Amino acid sequence: MDGVIAELERALGTGAVLSGEDVPAANRHDWSGLPATTPLALVRPRSTEEVAAVLRVCHAAGVPVVPQGGLTGLCGGARAATGEVALSLERLVGIEEIDAETATITVRAGTPLERAQEAASAAGFLLALDLGARGSCAIGGNVATNAGGNRVIRYGMTRDLVLGLEVVLPDGTVLTNLNKLVKNNAGYDLKQLFIGSEGTLGVVTRVVLRLHPLPASVAAGFCGLPDFPAVLALLQAARRQLGAGLSAFEGMWHEFYECMVTKASGVRAPLAGRHPFYVLLEAHGSDPTDGERFEAFLGRMLEQGVVADAAVAQSTAQVRAFWAVRDAVAEYATMIGPMVNFDVGLVTGRMHAVVEVLRREVAARWPGAVAHFYGHIGDGNLHVNVNVPGAVPQPKAEIEALVYRVVRDHGGSISAEHGIGVTKLAYLGYSRTPAELALMRTLKQAIDPRNILNPGKVVGG
Ligand code: FAD
Ligand code: LAC
Ligand code: ZN
Repeated sequence: MDGVIAELERALGTGAVLSGEDVPAANRHDWSGLPATTPLALVRPRSTEEVAAVLRVCHAAGVPVVPQGGLTGLCGGARAATGEVALSLERLVGIEEIDAETATITVRAGTPLERAQEAASAAGFLLALDLGARGSCAIGGNVATNAGGNRVIRYGMTRDLVLGLEVVLPDGTVLTNLNKLVKNNAGYDLKQLFIGSEGTLGVVTRVVLRLHPLPASVAAGFCGLPDFPAVLALLQAARRQLGAGLSAFEGMWHEFYECMVTKASGVRAPLAGRHPFYVLLEAHGSDPTDGERFEAFLGRMLEQGVVADAAVAQSTAQVRAFWAVRDAVAEYATMIGPMVNFDVGLVTGRMHAVVEVLRREVAARWPGAVAHFYGHIGDGNLHVNVNVPGAVPQPKAEIEALVYRVVRDHGGSISAEHGIGVTKLAYLGYSRTPAELALMRTLKQAIDPRNILNPGKVVGG
C-alpha cells in the first residue's frame, strides 16, 4: 500500500495526497450518519488528467477509489472505508464558460452548486437546480446522484439539465463529450449511464448544464390547508391555472412545520394559525405582472375553501423567509438529534395514506417517537424523518425495514432523489426487478471489471 501512496504522490505532488491521521475529519464521513472512517489516502487532483492518473495507478494496483464531492450525500456513497482511496474533487473547481447563445454553463465537477447558480445569475440566467445543501454540495455530486430538489416540477431533475459530460473511467480512460446540442441522437447517449450512478461507473470531471432565462417575477405563497384532498385540489388547480410557471409545490405535514417554526434558528411562522397541512407554492413568471396572477389565484383558492389561510411574499426577503422553513432540515441534528431519513417515491394521491400507516406503526412500535413528513409532493417525493428519543444508537435497521415495507406495499420507490449508496442496498430489490438488477450488474462488470470504483455501492458486490 505504501507503494500506491508513493505512486500517487509522484503523479500529483505530495501536497495533493494525504494519508492516515492527516486525512481531514470532513473527508471521513458524509451526511448519512454512518460512523467516520480512515481511508488509506485522500487525493485531491486539480485537473482531469490528474484524476485519470489517480485511476490508472489505483486500477493497476487493484485499490478501490471512492469519489467525493461536497459530502452532503445522505446514503453513505462518498464514504471511503479503510484501505480505499478517497478521491476528492474539491480542487477541480471553477466555471469554464457561460455560453449565452446556447444558454449553457460548463462547470468543473468540484464547484459548489451555489457558486454555479451565482455565476449563472450574474450572466442573466437561471441555473434551475436547487436544493437545501446548495452551499456545500458540488456539481459532480449532483450529477452522480441525479439530484432532485426544489424545482423539479418546473425544470426536471439534474438529468434533465445535463447536456454534456466529461467522465474518467475506472481504468483512467477519459470520455469527453461536452455536448451543447439539445438534440444529439448519434448512438447511445452514454452520459445517461453516469448520471445517477453514484460514482460506481466513472468519475465526473466536467459538466455542461442547460440554463434558463432568469424569471421576470418570482411569486411565493405559504398556505395552510384543512386536509389532504385540499392539498391535491390545490396541486391540480395550480397546474392548470399557473401552468408551466409553477416552479415548486412543497408539502409539509403539521409535525414538521411545528418543529421548524418553533425550533429552527431564525425561522418565523409564515402563518398566524395552525393547520393539518401546509404547502409552499412558488411560480416563476416571464412577465412582471405574473405576480398579480399568482395572488389572484391564491385569492380564488381561499374563496373556494381549498386553502384555509395563505400568505403571499411581498419581497425577495419574504420569499427567502418562506423557503427557510423548508431549508431548516439541515438543523435536525441540533433541533432533535439523529434522524433516520427517507426520500421515497409515491404516487402523490397515495401519500397521505402512507403517512397515516407510518404514523400508526411507528407510534405503536416506539411510543413517543418523532416522525416528520414533508417533501416535494408535486413530484411524488415524500421525505420521512424518524427519531426515537433517547435511543443510542437509533434503531435504524428496524425503522428502515418498516418504512420500506409500507412503501413497497403502496407501489412506491425506495429512493426518489438521494440514491442508494450503501444504506439502501438491501432494499433495492423492492423497487427493481431481478432482470433490472442483473443488467445493472452486467453494466458495472463491463465498465469496471476490476470493481475498483466505489465498490459495494448501489449494486453491491
Ligand atoms: P457527495 O455526498 O460527495 O457524493 C454523493 C455520491 O456521488 C457518492 O456516491 C459519491 O461517490 C458520488 N460522487 C460525488 N462526486 C462525484 C464525481 N465527481 N464523480 C462521480 N461520483 C461522484 N438531494 C436531493 O436530491 N434533493 C434535495 O432536496 C436535497 N436536499 C438536501 C438538503 C440537505 C440539508 C442535505 C444535507 C442534503 C440534501 N440532499 C438533497 C442530498 C445531497 O445534497 C445530494 O445528493 C447532492 O447531490 C450530493 O452532492 P455532493 O457533492 O455533496 O455529493
Ligand atoms: C430535502 C432533502 C433532504 O428535500 O432532500 O429536504
Ligand atoms: Zn428532497
